[in-house]
Amino acid sequence: EAAQKGGFPTFMLKEIHEQPNSIHTVLSIEQAQIHQLAAMIHEHQRTYLVGVGTTYYVALVAQYYFASLAKTFLPALSSDEFEYAAEVDGNTLFVCNSQSGETYDTLKALRFAKQRGAASAAIVNVIGSSISREVNLAIMQSSGPEICVLSTKAAVAQMTILLRVALELGKIKGVLSEQQYEEAQLQLKDLPEAIQWVLDQRMSVIRKIATTHCHIKNWLFLGRGIYMAAAMEAALKMKEVTYQHAEGMPGGFMKHGTISLIDKEMNTLVLVPPQREKDLYEATMSNVEEVKARGGFIVGFHYGEPDSRFNEEVIFRDVPSMLAPLLELVAGQLFAYYSAVTLGRNIDKPRSLAKSVTVA
Ligand code: G6P
Repeated sequence: EAAQKGGFPTFMLKEIHEQPNSIHTVLSIEQAQIHQLAAMIHEHQRTYLVGVGTTYYVALVAQYYFASLAKTFLPALSSDEFEYAAEVDGNTLFVCNSQSGETYDTLKALRFAKQRGAASAAIVNVIGSSISREVNLAIMQSSGPEICVLSTKAAVAQMTILLRVALELGKIKGVLSEQQYEEAQLQLKDLPEAIQWVLDQRMSVIRKIATTHCHIKNWLFLGRGIYMAAAMEAALKMKEVTYQHAEGMPGGFMKHGTISLIDKEMNTLVLVPPQREKDLYEATMSNVEEVKARGGFIVGFHYGEPDSRFNEEVIFRDVPSMLAPLLELVAGQLFAYYSAVTLGRNIDKPRSLAKSVTVA
């Protein structure tokens, strides 16, 4: 097993470090396949993005990519809720993500959709898996085996594929000009290196913050827009591996109830967009001030100059806006990881969790 871990103490840390590589791999998936999925979405009246656990948050991140880059609303649904919420007929396209390709809830939702005449597509890691065999179009992400129960490299690779599909749809629909599209393709190429930068340059500060504050049992993870989806996923990582309560939430939602929980025993982690996203940035910072006014302790993931409104901060190097949430997600993985290491948790196999849940 030590050999399989390639010098890392855990599979989780190894797989986090494999991300520049797994992203490089999905950036090399043939454009024809990406185009095929974008064209399917374009041709169908309704498309749902479906997954469960981390793959639901992948769908939620993608929902925002499609909204901003292709001006198209593709609702993200949790696989287990799909049949209760979705409207499915012959004009529907079901698009799911699954690392294992065997998750019961996702397979059940897929079969439900197919029975009602929907077309289907999936992004899957495991070759030959049930989901990859049962869909009309399977895009294989080829991220290599993911052993840790928590999904890291598989999830970020799926987000990157869906980002590519969103750009392609943006081009098909004329939302993006040829020049904007080409520029975005060039920017995408920097993603592996930008993630490598987070691993090389921000690991120690994230480790220090996590080690110092992981004893706090309640965490609120806030973000707006796509950063909300990233905050939900980061909070799931935290819960899965530390057994501490972390609640991901849209920044604007907090004041409608949850704000009453803010005190010395509840920390907040805020995923902040680059400042050039002026409205989103200011709205997010207004949440920071709301928490601060109530004496809450705040960790900020952000792109600006050092900011005393945060009690602790992780500052990222500037990247194009579409890549920014992915860097913060990787930081969230490291934050959960080092919190759990300090707390002495079973990193690769947290209690009560299975890598693939294949039963109801
Ligand atoms: C399980 C795992 C999660 C994973 C989810 C979906 O609950 O513990 O880490 O996100 O299944 O798995 P899938 O293989 O479909 O991506």
